[in-house]
Amino acid sequence: MNLTMIGTGYVGLVSGAGLADFGMNVICVDKEEQRIRKLLTGHIPFYEPGLEELVTRNVKNGRLTFTTDLRMAVKRSLVIFIAVGTPDNGRGETDLSQVKEVAGDLSQLIDDYKVVVMKSTVPVGTNRWIKEAIQKSLRKNISVDVVSNPEFLREGSAIEDFMRPNRVVLGSDNVNALAILKDIYRSLYLIETPFVLTNLETAELIKYASNAFLATKISFINEVANLCEKVGADVHQVAKAMGLDKRIGPKFLHPGPGFGGSCFPKDTAAFAHLGEATGSPLRIVESVISVNTEQRTKMIEKIETGLGSIAEKTIGVLGLSFKPNTDDVRESPALDIVRSLLEKGAEIKAYDPAGIEEFKRIFGDQKICYCRDAYSVAKGAHALVILTEWNEFRNLDLQKITTLLAQPVIFDLRNIYDPAKTAELGLTHIGVGRGA
Ligand code: UGA
Repeated sequence: MNLTMIGTGYVGLVSGAGLADFGMNVICVDKEEQRIRKLLTGHIPFYEPGLEELVTRNVKNGRLTFTTDLRMAVKRSLVIFIAVGTPDNGRGETDLSQVKEVAGDLSQLIDDYKVVVMKSTVPVGTNRWIKEAIQKSLRKNISVDVVSNPEFLREGSAIEDFMRPNRVVLGSDNVNALAILKDIYRSLYLIETPFVLTNLETAELIKYASNAFLATKISFINEVANLCEKVGADVHQVAKAMGLDKRIGPKFLHPGPGFGGSCFPKDTAAFAHLGEATGSPLRIVESVISVNTEQRTKMIEKIETGLGSIAEKTIGVLGLSFKPNTDDVRESPALDIVRSLLEKGAEIKAYDPAGIEEFKRIFGDQKICYCRDAYSVAKGAHALVILTEWNEFRNLDLQKITTLLAQPVIFDLRNIYDPAKTAELGLTHIGVGRGA
């Protein structure tokens, strides 16, 4: 089956390459010529473990191609996936301009039956709007079906998530369109992936409710962590014991500097906005958002209290990306924390295994001294702040770090070290929620 994937960002490129691996012929389309030129020469525009191999393999076997020619792609495909950006418009609403542009293009190009599948996260009602917008401009005897197929992959483990999803959600009013989509995903039946077949609005809502619930778990445990510090409890043991209750589950109960990335901040804001706009406020989600913002401030206060003052101190930062295994720094806690430390007069030395170039795009390289590894960051710094739990930060030679630091203090904001062990080395460990 021939498919078109419009948009070669995270979701588009991973899904396009993944579907090609499932045996489909996939034409990935992007209007950015330079991006397509790079993809044609095997260059992946962002860091995602395993993606380069997946793309290369499927380009070689002829099932994955890249083009800027949407007309040709649409002509050849029965199914057209939309995976364009749906960023926040700055007011907590979703900017749908790219989706609307694609819908406009499709209504000009479609000249026989197609199934249009929405992979981007879009507000409830968008898919129905797309169906009507495209259908309105088509010739009388042509029909189009729309399917909402939200994506649940995580950056950093996107390939695994695409190949072994917890579930596939397909929303449509049309059984024929659903049957075509089930056929596309038939490889997943072999591994007994549950499929949820539903209507457009339910599928759209499932995505927001899922992301908001995960974000809720994070803000919840962050508040509990802050409380643990006041009462002398250890949040790790609290989270572990909570997670052993199967009704709660152990995942997403890891405290830290708050959630970031291109999804949770944007999706919780859009979900809260939807609640407000429909007169059905989502007060829990609203609190999740404010707790997350406050958590970043709390981390800055933690550093300030721990050091006495920040002015003229050299602070070493480990981890700039919003999570490990990605170069993505969008809404990363590191942005707010580093900005605030700089404003308070600190000198910053920083290292991240993949995120330095993206961070430089925002801060430039004048204010921050970017280093080649964790040890260069530690050399002469008055404190080390761990902001992202990259694997290479989990097993540092702490003895060496202690000698390199001008003051043996570590703000372990992802709780990757055992405070008892660091204490043996004479290293002051300040974590999150480790009051015990
Ligand atoms: C998230 C969802 O997990 C995916 O299912 C979804 O498809 C994706 O958004 C999306 O909407 O596209 P992602 O943003 O890549 O994926 O990353 P997560 O692993 O969910 O982490 C999000 C943030 O929460 C990170 O900043 C992470 O450090 C933080 N987090 C996560 C915690 O602070 N504690 C935890 O226990 C878990």
